[in-house]
Amino acid sequence: MIRIDSLTKRYGDLAAVDDVSFTAFPGRVTGFLGPNGAGKSTTLRVLTGLATPTTGRATVLGRRYPDLPNPGLEVGVLLDASAQHGGRTGRETLVLAQRTMGLPPIRVDEMLDLVGLTWAEGKRRVRDYSLGMRQRLGLATALMGDPRVLVLDEPANGLDPAGIRWMRDLLRGFADDGGTVLLSSHLLSEIEMIADDIVMIGHGQIVASGATHELLGGVGTLVRADDDARLTAALVSAGFQATPRGDGAVATDAGLAAAGEVAFCAGLPVTELRTADGHGLEDMFLELTAADQREDISSRRTTLAEGVAA
Ligand SMILES: Nc1ncnc2c1ncn2[C@@H]1O[C@H](COP(=O)(O)OP(=O)(O)OP(=O)(O)O)[C@@H](O)[C@H]1O
Ligand SMILES: [Mg+2]
Repeated sequence: MIRIDSLTKRYGDLAAVDDVSFTAFPGRVTGFLGPNGAGKSTTLRVLTGLATPTTGRATVLGRRYPDLPNPGLEVGVLLDASAQHGGRTGRETLVLAQRTMGLPPIRVDEMLDLVGLTWAEGKRRVRDYSLGMRQRLGLATALMGDPRVLVLDEPANGLDPAGIRWMRDLLRGFADDGGTVLLSSHLLSEIEMIADDIVMIGHGQIVASGATHELLGGVGTLVRADDDARLTAALVSAGFQATPRGDGAVATDAGLAAAGEVAFCAGLPVTELRTADGHGLEDMFLELTAADQREDISSRRTTLAEGVAA
């Protein structure tokens, strides 16, 4: 379990991470999604003790990372695969980790095997590795101590489609065995494929979180009638949430039958009635990605709430 509690990290005037709270649960892969510069790496750096929080707290398995006696045995971390020492071979990198953690030497070969690096590749210097090979080596280091938690910053960077699939299966297995996985990405498509839960960050603030299928799948109902204002009022007075979308349609949390019945009882002929697409997250992510100005995020939060209701 990973808990981030009201975490803020300031660099001068910039709140790189601004009052962020979320939990990554055991048995689940949590995708930390956000565009470039959103604050993902900063959050993960604070979580793994590489940066100190300005305020708030981040804990892994109930403790702050720096308080873990032999962290590699509890938390596998891969933050920056290109930061590995280029002069060492892959095998030397792993031997160093194996000794630091006090593990048997056999773990080195087991890990090379696990991440699909051949014996010959293990003998090559890391500076000659491709980014994908570095990611695999970084994962090998992270997994060596058989930890219960994995923290991975953009682990799919540099992996080819087969590599991404391989990583997804590996992380799936890790979570299915009860492990907690927190991984970041700036690509919605990647997170969609891998994560059970999504925490979305933009401009240092959490803008959405929840189960992937709820955030991206069809949620709620879309109903259209000639008079969207009257339809909205009828749905609200029947006890449902209802938001006019501005194009004549109304998004509501009422089920299909209930939405149809409300419209019928209000004497409003329905011209469209269907399960909503749930593209709110994607739209919002695109909006965040396109935005190059720091703005008040609260207006976006509203947009998303509408999008998810839709
Ligand atoms: N050491 C630092 N000093 C000053 N500003 C920093 C520092 N580290 C990060 N920042 C700033 O904090 C903000 C968040 O950066 P961060 O690296 O956490 O983003 P990110 O979500 O990981 O982005 P990316 O997808 O590009 O990796 C950025 O504006 C960045 O410039
Ligand atoms: Mg980053």
